[in-house]
Amino acid sequence: MRPDKKNLATLSVATLAVHGGNIIDATTGAVRTPLVMANSYLLPDDPSTMDWSSPDGLVYTRNQGHNQVCLEKKLAALEGGEAAVAFATGVAALHSIFFTFLKSGGHILVSDVTYEAVWRLFAELLPERYGIEASFVDMGDLEAVRQAIRPNTKLIHTETIANPTTKVADVAAIVEIAHAHGALASIDATFTPPPFFQAIKHGADLVVHSLTKYINGHGDSMGGVVIGSTELITKIKHEALVDLGAIISPFNAWMIMRGSVTLPLRLKQHLSSAEKLAAFLASDERIAYVYYPGLPSHPQYELARRQFAGRGYGAMMAFAVKGDPDTQNRFVSNLRIITSAVSLGHDESLIVHVGAEGRGGFDKYPEEFRTYGHLRFSVGLEDPEDLIKDISIALDETFN
Ligand SMILES: Cc1ncc(COP(=O)(O)O)c(C=O)c1O
Repeated sequence: MRPDKKNLATLSVATLAVHGGNIIDATTGAVRTPLVMANSYLLPDDPSTMDWSSPDGLVYTRNQGHNQVCLEKKLAALEGGEAAVAFATGVAALHSIFFTFLKSGGHILVSDVTYEAVWRLFAELLPERYGIEASFVDMGDLEAVRQAIRPNTKLIHTETIANPTTKVADVAAIVEIAHAHGALASIDATFTPPPFFQAIKHGADLVVHSLTKYINGHGDSMGGVVIGSTELITKIKHEALVDLGAIISPFNAWMIMRGSVTLPLRLKQHLSSAEKLAAFLASDERIAYVYYPGLPSHPQYELARRQFAGRGYGAMMAFAVKGDPDTQNRFVSNLRIITSAVSLGHDESLIVHVGAEGRGGFDKYPEEFRTYGHLRFSVGLEDPEDLIKDISIALDETFN
């Protein structure tokens, strides 16, 4: 059977990662969807009645492009959602949700530990410019979430595992609170892509991924996606795609289609290496602390175990060496394999020293983070023994 004729609903994530969204090229018979870089498509004989702002059909690549459509189909299938809309970056995808579902006078509950751009949007930009009300809440405290709901609450937004502290959100419970008050729940699942986790199956209305991270996985392109019901995704497409212009480039969509083929395989390795690295760090007395949801010492280990059903705690962790900011920097500069750079979920291991100051919501971070700062560590696909050796040598050089 031709892969584009398969019924995606019956296939597992591993199979969807290979076949999902792939369309055999009608002109050449090429079995993988070719890259279509055209920015416009042939119009019908009478275009005079066309809606130029429509995100449907192939007209102009800012509205919709061939590679974007294929990618959206694949990502919806991987997450188990009805539809998806892809954007130029993860932040553009997040903003599309906020732009579509929040208006002046509307209220949002946001996790008090969240990706920096989301913090800034709700601590400063959207309230100041558009009169949107925002409350930052501890999503680990369900009673606090219930208490923070207001009659005008339209949306609850959180990350499955928060960047950077690795705080775990109880997705099903948060969705239940949102729905009981007629609000939507949007979940940023960047740290826990499928098959680690499928937030739609836990009731999330909208799931966001920065495709820049695990889903592309190779550190060489940027993208974002929102997945949800056809109704909600159609609304986002009509209100926050064409007229805001943050469309994904065909090249990046093609790259992410390609990178995501190995997502399930890569995640298995990321996870098993992360477990080894976290255990190693936790056993070394020169390490001040390690936050990784797969460690029994993590404050939400039990929730993580239950929620992720043994399928993975992700491969992101935060730790610090014992010492001041200069010591953290010295340690990082002594690493030879693990690269000091932002981003995460790449094939190569990445580390970034985030200081004790200067981050939105920093006062809500666990005390160890505030004392030492933290090193955000994305465990890559190198041999875990090489990574352990790299850290060991860097620790020796830093402390001897
Ligand atoms: C949890 C999370 N969401 C969203 C983003 C933003 O993604 P992008 O950099 O693709 O805009 C990031 C980036 O680090 C992230 O960690």
